[in-house]
Amino acid sequence: MSVARIYVGRVVHSKSLKCLEILPQAALGVRGDGKISFLKDNVGDIAALRREYASEGFAGATTIYLKPHEFLFPGMIDTHLHASQWPNLALGMEGELRDWVENYTDPMEASYSDNDKARRVYSDVVSTTLRLGSTTVAYNTTIHAEASNILAQTAFDKGQRAIVGKMCITMGSTHNNWEDSVDVSLAEDEKCLEFMRNLDSERRLVHPCVQPRGGPYCPPELMAGLGEHREKYDTYVQAHMCETQSDIDRTLALHTPFTSYSAMYAAHNLLTPKTILAHCIHLQPADLSNIATTGAGVAHNPNSNTCLRDGICRVRDLLSAGIHVGLGTDCSAGYMPSIHSAMRDASNVSRNLAMQTGEDRYILAFSELVYLATLGGAEVVGMGERIGNFEVGKEFDALVVDVKEVISVEEGMWEAGSERDEDLVKKWVFLGDDRTVRRVFVGGRLVGGWGC
Ligand code: GUN
Ligand code: FE
Repeated sequence: MSVARIYVGRVVHSKSLKCLEILPQAALGVRGDGKISFLKDNVGDIAALRREYASEGFAGATTIYLKPHEFLFPGMIDTHLHASQWPNLALGMEGELRDWVENYTDPMEASYSDNDKARRVYSDVVSTTLRLGSTTVAYNTTIHAEASNILAQTAFDKGQRAIVGKMCITMGSTHNNWEDSVDVSLAEDEKCLEFMRNLDSERRLVHPCVQPRGGPYCPPELMAGLGEHREKYDTYVQAHMCETQSDIDRTLALHTPFTSYSAMYAAHNLLTPKTILAHCIHLQPADLSNIATTGAGVAHNPNSNTCLRDGICRVRDLLSAGIHVGLGTDCSAGYMPSIHSAMRDASNVSRNLAMQTGEDRYILAFSELVYLATLGGAEVVGMGERIGNFEVGKEFDALVVDVKEVISVEEGMWEAGSERDEDLVKKWVFLGDDRTVRRVFVGGRLVGGWGC
């Protein structure tokens, strides 16, 4: 337990898809255990707040006054990143999905039989994503149980919220990037799930998942076994779905009774509110309704979808069907490990879709971009009750953003309540870079930030 803190200054967060709330002169109280006790606007008398919340430890709270060019923003949520592909960032854009997997991804992932490499790379992945403001990341890994456990341990030690498991593949891969049998894959998977149960039994930070790579890579017996693990260990699920037409065709050829990708996952007990489906670009109507009725979430990866020329995800249609959507970097198919940057990509891709279809409704509004990066992501990772904005009772997963050295703004824009507060946030989203993320907190604990 640390000392309670009261932040005084500008606070920005999503209350819903359409509602971006900006409180210019707020007071936000963080208890010693890292939970939010209050968020009030226009509080002049901090001493009165200390008295009012004395029973929650605020009598002796530290007060932090944010500067006019600073604001609090919720920790961002990366709903899909392949930690193992990190050394390939920015490489491999020559081919489409299958060429890229075979020529870049398979050989890279196969190399994680080397635990020293896993330690080295995963330490860099977690430190960098924290510095960039991702307080929660849903990580994909490799077929190696030990290396996957190293990632879980690294996230735990560095204080990042993470969803981690072992990738399961017994077919459809190259460069020896597969496991010898379904039995071996499931036995190795259980090693990870047991490890994580002991690592963080209260599941404050590290949450186990099962990870069938996708339809073409896991035969029905493996899908069925992973569905059983999901139930037995109450885990998350991370998988790819409907990324390209070839991905769908290969899946339906292997899983013959099914006429849609999602029906296959559903039949193996793999679609739940704790399921994260990456891509979901080429959906059939049956997929939309299967995702919506099971409460599974979608990781929208605009950078990666563009780099691999997969297609454009119709985010508006997903949202209209009541499906949870968040943003993913999908590194290394996407080259940029920043959700801040993903907001811009999501904006551009939505505008391209509007041009292509002639339908402006596909354009994502500014409030929607912020929502997808924060509260939407929290819903996708099944933690909407716990993180994603600054509601009272949630954990303080937060960024202190400082735009001063990076963005030039007109005189007066920094003044609290100038009615240009939203303009300031827009300038940060579209013009800011890593230097603006000055402090990163997870559960109230300082875990990163530029210069930290
Ligand atoms: N489909 C199967 N594996 C992968 C992967 O690693 N990245 C992407 N983008 N798609 C996949
Ligand atoms: Fe992916």
